[in-house]
Amino acid sequence: TRRNETDTGAGVCPFHGAGAPSMAPNGCPVSPRAAAFDPFDRPYQLDPAEALRWSREQEPVFYSPRLGYWVVSRYDDIKAIFRDNLTFSPSIALEKITPASDEALAVLERYDYGMNRTLVNEDEPAHMARRRELLDAFTPEALEAHAPMVRRLVREKLDAIIDRGRADLVAEMFWEVPLTVALHFLGVPEEDMEQLRRFSVAHTLNTWGRPSPEQQVEVAEGVGKFWQYSGEVLRKMQARPEGHGWMYDMIEKNRHKPDIVTDNYLHSMMMAIIVAAHETTALATANAFRQLLSRPAVWADLCDNPALIPAAAEECLRHSGSVVAWRRIATREVEVGGVTIPEGGRILMVTASGNHDPAHFENPDELDIYRDNAVDHLTFGYGSHQCMGKNLGRMEMRIFLEEFTRRLPHLELEEQEFTFLPNTSFRGPEALWVRWDPVQNPERRDPAVRSAQRDFPVGAPSRQDIAREMVVAKVQTAAKGVLQIALEDPHGRRVPAWSPGSHVDLIVGDYVRKYSLCGEVDDPYWLQIAVLREEAGRGGSAWIHEHLKPGMPLRLRGPKNHFRLDESAGRYVLIAGGIGITPIIAMADRLKRLGKSYELHYAGRSRASMAFVERLERDHGETLRLYRKDRGERLDLAALLAEPSENTLLYACGPERLLAALEAGTHHWPEGSLHVEHFTAEGALLDPEHEHAFEVELTDSELVVEVAADRTLLQALRAAGVDVPSDCEEGLCGSCQVEVVEGEIDHRDKVLTAAERAGQDRLMSCCSRAKGKRLKLAL
Ligand code: HEM
Repeated sequence: TRRNETDTGAGVCPFHGAGAPSMAPNGCPVSPRAAAFDPFDRPYQLDPAEALRWSREQEPVFYSPRLGYWVVSRYDDIKAIFRDNLTFSPSIALEKITPASDEALAVLERYDYGMNRTLVNEDEPAHMARRRELLDAFTPEALEAHAPMVRRLVREKLDAIIDRGRADLVAEMFWEVPLTVALHFLGVPEEDMEQLRRFSVAHTLNTWGRPSPEQQVEVAEGVGKFWQYSGEVLRKMQARPEGHGWMYDMIEKNRHKPDIVTDNYLHSMMMAIIVAAHETTALATANAFRQLLSRPAVWADLCDNPALIPAAAEECLRHSGSVVAWRRIATREVEVGGVTIPEGGRILMVTASGNHDPAHFENPDELDIYRDNAVDHLTFGYGSHQCMGKNLGRMEMRIFLEEFTRRLPHLELEEQEFTFLPNTSFRGPEALWVRWDPVQNPERRDPAVRSAQRDFPVGAPSRQDIAREMVVAKVQTAAKGVLQIALEDPHGRRVPAWSPGSHVDLIVGDYVRKYSLCGEVDDPYWLQIAVLREEAGRGGSAWIHEHLKPGMPLRLRGPKNHFRLDESAGRYVLIAGGIGITPIIAMADRLKRLGKSYELHYAGRSRASMAFVERLERDHGETLRLYRKDRGERLDLAALLAEPSENTLLYACGPERLLAALEAGTHHWPEGSLHVEHFTAEGALLDPEHEHAFEVELTDSELVVEVAADRTLLQALRAAGVDVPSDCEEGLCGSCQVEVVEGEIDHRDKVLTAAERAGQDRLMSCCSRAKGKRLKLAL
């Protein structure tokens, strides 16, 4: 390792410590934990993310002598590997992780087994040439057409058990529905489903398992038969070229472009895709139901608020995905996370561990269906090989969840011990026993429940739907024209944690607005906001002032923080204009608690119209300066900002005029001194009349995407199947930031600083565009 180079002790690696039992191929000693790691042991089989916690925390890249692989466990390292498919070739993705015995090889030979390249394990340039040819079936429109079939299959299976009261959902439907969907999607005739399931199990054990010498032969028999079966199905399909489905697209390409889609390729793909397209989804669905049902409060939230289903499915894919590890091989000596991996080093990326990395996901071990960056998970891989079928998998999981939450909200998980097929990569319980009381089935009282389905658009979940149900606990006047509102959980549960600078998006009918949280940060049961009545607004605030009463339900998104307080500075200047006091008050409270030096400047029309003055005088009297217009008091920004300071941070919220003056008045301050919170996004909304179309080249996924004049870049990326997280979609929050490799940017957001803009290396995809005809993005 790199650290080994600076090692001063005789043969003792400071990274791995003394007593390292053996050496990695780069000569580095292997730590005892790394030496002991075995993915076929119980801890990894039961919970791979937990089994690698020590690695995430202490040794994020290590050599496993038992496996002969370099194991990578942190989010950023895994993503970096996925991004660079030239240095980290996927060619070993389907290699047998346990070498076959001679007897097993003989069996495979008897079946003429010749599984070779399929999309997932092939290098460039062949891979992208084929992938591009095969993308049409995965566009949102094409996938949308499969939704009714998925719905019908799920419903039939549910009808069959709904009066029973107890079932193993894996056996009843979780593998059969995805398998049937996969066969429909591929155009493969439905044949012996049980046999196909056995084939898939053999394929998984053969590729990712550690079968004993006796099992090897049995597994090889299964795999050999699966290979022959795939060949027979293919020949049948080739004989009726009028069929429809993705495999027919491939047969067609094989006919017209045999050099791109070769014969062996067709056969290999046939076998691999039957597994890829169903087992992944079957296991993911079982994992999701297990996780959700083992948290009755979360399940109840989903039943009450089905709009959360896409977000919940995504969070389950993050928390407990069905693909937990994936492989690459280093094509040259390369450093990953400070460790040198030699050329030819085999790499096991434990994506389940990356998905639990606290450096990327807050409280990563919690299943939080309101999490707004769950979509960043690595369960579908990332980059140019990212799962092509992800949106079909998502669709199936969502339909399962939607049917069950509506028709069996009283479903319960039975006490049981879960078992898993022993392998490194595919994970889900082999059985999932649930029970319910059929007498309570809602459709017995109201038959309309059976068919009252709700559909979700194809693609990544929209953050707009990640809303919580809350109830108004208290409404009081905080100042003239300002209401202070306390919100609580309808079930009396704790409210989500938040930090100073956080806001919530309040949803009242069609009205959505950001309000900063202004209560006590550690109040477990209330979230508090203050709402100014804005006569010039869209009427939402007036409605709130006139109609909001304790006990009323409300929906909100968040809390989220785009105005985070950096607690590392020595001194702070807090500036609030009018209702902009709301985030500032929470910051002042926090700074006081931290014992920091701070001053608080608060400007408003009159004392009567300024919220929280009494509380501020009580808690922050020594540092508070009030500027009341009706008394002729003026906040003199020029004087306040005259002396720039290295160690001082400025935080401000208030009218745009004030923020603009602050931005202009701090040019001579060190970059990054001023932090402001904008509440409106003038200029960020798309006006097609004044736009031009442009093209973006995506370096990670090797795609070129057109952005029409009437579309945002974010919309165009989504339509091309590229998942980019987003939130406000108004250029205010920074969630949809994308790295720019080349091209001139027309920035429209309110997030980036002047220096960040000048760097021309990132943009907010919801609003910013190309100045010219083309941009190159690291996506
Ligand atoms: C590739 C996971 C469903 C088709 C992959 C990869 C993973 C994955 C980890 C490798 C990605 C990489 O190397 O970056 C999953 C999961 C699924 C799912 C977790 C369900 C929850 C599906 C479905 C289909 C499908 C339903 C087909 C209809 C593919 C294909 C590839 C792939 C064709 C190869 C793409 C390439 O290499 O260019 N999937 N998959 N997957 N998946 Fe999926």
